Amino acid sequence: MDIETMSRTAEALVAPGKGILAADESHPTMAKRLAAIGLESSESVRQTYRGMLLGTPGLSEFISGVILFDETIRQRTPDGTPIPELLRRQGIIPGIKVDGGIKPLAGFPGEVATEGLDGLRARLADYASLGARFAKWRAVIRIDGALPSATCIETHAHALARYAALAQEAGLTPIVEPEVLMNGSHTAQRCAEVTVTVLRAVYEQLGHQHVVLEASLLKPNMVLPGVDCPHQVSDEEVGRLTIRTLRQAVPAAVPGLVFLSGGQSDEQATARLAAINRQGPQPWQCSFSFGRALQGPVLRAWAGEETNRGAAQAALLHRARLNSLARSGEYAPSMEAVS
Ligand code: 13P
Repeated sequence: MDIETMSRTAEALVAPGKGILAADESHPTMAKRLAAIGLESSESVRQTYRGMLLGTPGLSEFISGVILFDETIRQRTPDGTPIPELLRRQGIIPGIKVDGGIKPLAGFPGEVATEGLDGLRARLADYASLGARFAKWRAVIRIDGALPSATCIETHAHALARYAALAQEAGLTPIVEPEVLMNGSHTAQRCAEVTVTVLRAVYEQLGHQHVVLEASLLKPNMVLPGVDCPHQVSDEEVGRLTIRTLRQAVPAAVPGLVFLSGGQSDEQATARLAAINRQGPQPWQCSFSFGRALQGPVLRAWAGEETNRGAAQAALLHRARLNSLARSGEYAPSMEAVS
């Protein structure tokens, strides 16, 4: 393993003004996204949509890397260019989701574990040969009454560290994603407590399993009240709480945080990322790795019609540019109107 190369990849992914486009939806998730615009999910629809997304001219000005799904990393554009090559030619780093999705955690009703460690070494080698330079694994933690359990947190922390160590062995920069969900009626304070507990457990395990933090990135949730919490908070408060929480638990050796959007609206995710970046200098770059918050407007503009290709790509560039501006805290909601 070449730690230097993996560290450089991590740094390039969080270069100032740039962030990651998460386009790694599994088949069931993609089916849901396409159903929302009245389309059935088939391999050719997914190929057309993602080919359009990833072929957006000028994308590399704001997007440093793209997380692909297994199907996509093996696909080609209509002119025969492999998707990882399409990205590389634009100066965008190809990445890959390597977890096998979430399944119920046996013995712990209401909680989940992430599958995919079996056979992971061979899959990582395959992805590296297909051109992937970084990887992602997602853990999902739900807040509900007494949940999450300590067992759920330990299980996820252990799996994230096993994955990250194997990714580094294969030469891929690991993105470690422990997502505390925003579903529920919990307060922002409770989200902060759970997030700090989860992150401490994750970094303890990463240490035990000899993961080199300089050659990794963290993909955290923002610290938010649950969507059904009666006490919602301002964007500035989200920024303050998120930074205060992450500073308790994320080592300074980690080069960057790439926040997930997690079901926030696209405008909310951008405004809160800007608020996070207005909290002053941090030990790490604070960037984005948005799925829904980048692709939502694109899917709506595209609607499955080839004639909407230009409008859909313009919607992606607009969102990517605003998130780029959020990296320096310069974003203001008034910029939303200008496309
Ligand atoms: P969202 O930004 O839609 O939460 O997706 C990011 C992601 O990659 C989740 O694993």
